[in-house]
Amino acid sequence: MSIGRRPPGSAETTSGRASVLCGLGGWVPQRIVTNEELSRRLDTTEDWIITRTGIGERRAVDPGQATSDLAVAAGSRALRSAGGETPDTVIVATTTPDRPCPATAPLVAARLGMRGVAAFDVSAVCTGFVYGLATAAGMIAAGVSQRALVIGADVYSSIVDPDDRTNAIIFGDGAGAVVLRAGDPDELGALGNFVLGSDGTGEHLITIAAGGSRQRSSGQPPTRGERHFAMQGKEVFRQAVTHMSSSARASLAAAGWQPDEVDRVVAHQANLRILRSVADNLGIDRDRCVSHLVDVGNTGAASIPLALDHAAANGTLRPGQRVLLTAFGGGLTWGSCVLRWPDIDRGTEHGGER
Ligand code: COA
Repeated sequence: MSIGRRPPGSAETTSGRASVLCGLGGWVPQRIVTNEELSRRLDTTEDWIITRTGIGERRAVDPGQATSDLAVAAGSRALRSAGGETPDTVIVATTTPDRPCPATAPLVAARLGMRGVAAFDVSAVCTGFVYGLATAAGMIAAGVSQRALVIGADVYSSIVDPDDRTNAIIFGDGAGAVVLRAGDPDELGALGNFVLGSDGTGEHLITIAAGGSRQRSSGQPPTRGERHFAMQGKEVFRQAVTHMSSSARASLAAAGWQPDEVDRVVAHQANLRILRSVADNLGIDRDRCVSHLVDVGNTGAASIPLALDHAAANGTLRPGQRVLLTAFGGGLTWGSCVLRWPDIDRGTEHGGER
């Protein structure tokens, strides 16, 4: 099919090949960090955390556990859920790679029995999973890939200062994954209407100042603050609402969907008040927002696939529903896309892990 013939609402690409979501899995570590525990050791209260963020608890890795461990667990669940052929591409979206070099994805691929496949990381902070989906969809549309495993995985407990009450209350560890296969634009599960953006003038709003070439080449040892994740919460809140709303609006317009036709909004799980503000801006009922914050907090690049997995497990997501994904993260970066929810077999039991 040729360029320029894409009908509204279709996930058709210029090549005519769409990416269809056909597998889903999530995994969080066992250790639960409650608001009560945080309020015992930080200058905060359980009430402040739940009312200002919507977060009830979050998970944290055990000493020595790394992002690849979480990514492998979520990835293997997504592969089981998808069944069928082995993917030829593995993308890991993360801000907390196992090491600064090399990327985490090749190791994850190898541990999942996929030596030899294309494997690389995507670095777009909390927008990483949506950027990863867009990258995989582009590779599938171009015929470079037939089937891709896209994982969002982060271990924020490794970069957040445990004494920083602003960030320690928000972030948790986790991983979520999907399998995409080449398919038709009109199938349930076909991803479409990606809208991505960035603004590097806001790089200082979410940052780890040390550990990169700027600090290392200076020869100056980093301070404690520079080694940890830092965020200007109030301004990030404002930017997150602005950019998730505008990219979501553009994605819906490209799809030809009216706000009241959207059944579920799965936004980056940053703060319940952010999710509600985005829904209000878009004119979508707040009760159509999927929220998994109360259980896991903000899990960075894992937040959207974990929320999808949770919502699919509890029946909030049902086949045929019109779903909007929207994310915002450091960079600054943002992105949105749409799909009609597929009839997939999650094929996994989460037991006590969620
Ligand atoms: N416990 C108790 N009080 C706290 C607190 C905590 N954990 N953190 C901040 N406060 C205090 C502040 O010091 C401030 O006190 P003051 O009025 O005496 O100065 C007051 O609460 C309000 O602070 P403010 O920063 O305006 O709070 P907020 O309502 O904006 O909430 C965040 C702070 C971080 C929860 C909120 O800004 C947020 O969620 N930002 C976006 C985070 C995010 O989404 N990040 C990821 C994006 S990818």
